[in-house]
Amino acid sequence: MVVLGAGLDTYAYRSALGDRLHVFEVDHPATQEWKRRCLEHAAISIPSSLTFAPIDFERETLGEGLAAAGFDPSQQTFFTWLGVVPYLTEEAVWSTLRFIASLPNGAHVVFDYSDPPDSLSPEAQISHERRAAHVDALGEAWLCYFDSDQLHAMLVTLGFSEIEDFGPKQIAARFFPGHADRLPDKGGHILRGATIQGKQS
Ligand SMILES: C[S@@+](CC[C@H](N)C(=O)[O-])C[C@H]1O[C@@H](n2cnc3c(N)ncnc32)[C@H](O)[C@@H]1O
Repeated sequence: MVVLGAGLDTYAYRSALGDRLHVFEVDHPATQEWKRRCLEHAAISIPSSLTFAPIDFERETLGEGLAAAGFDPSQQTFFTWLGVVPYLTEEAVWSTLRFIASLPNGAHVVFDYSDPPDSLSPEAQISHERRAAHVDALGEAWLCYFDSDQLHAMLVTLGFSEIEDFGPKQIAARFFPGHADRLPDKGGHILRGATIQGKQS
């Protein structure tokens, strides 16, 4: 399993699967260094099933960074990439997805993304602009958005054969039943993509 842009994700430290699942935590070198100091400060030990892979998606490819960390590309792998895509350039997003799709024995990825601001309702646009200005002022601007149809088409072109995309209504229907009809179609999405198992590249 690979946790992309892990931040303070704690899965590797509490997984019940122990040594049966190897976890690679990929993150910007500065964030990963900070997390490692936090772990030390909190006396949380690093499991032997965890490998850190410091990678800046804008400066190096996921393939290069994972190879340097000892990742075995022949293993079927699940990639979780939550809360990261909006902070990247499109180029870095495509490069990462291209690597995932190229893995010879199949891979799954889950990531979140947002519809382009100009596709939102006027009220949602105002709220979006306020939040975007806030993260921008913190030095962590949102850089990319995707139109769902174009994103799905690109994923198919890259080699993803299964695409499951939950928009605001579907997310609410699953987690907040009774509220889904009040939500717009456009906004934040969570997407799962998978390539064919056993595919030869
Ligand atoms: C909002 S946090 C999400 C953390 C975690 N995935 C979660 O869901 O709680 C965004 C993460 O993206 C990472 N990130 C942002 N830009 C990056 C880049 N260019 N390369 C690598 N990681 C990056 C940050 O270091 C941070 O860990």
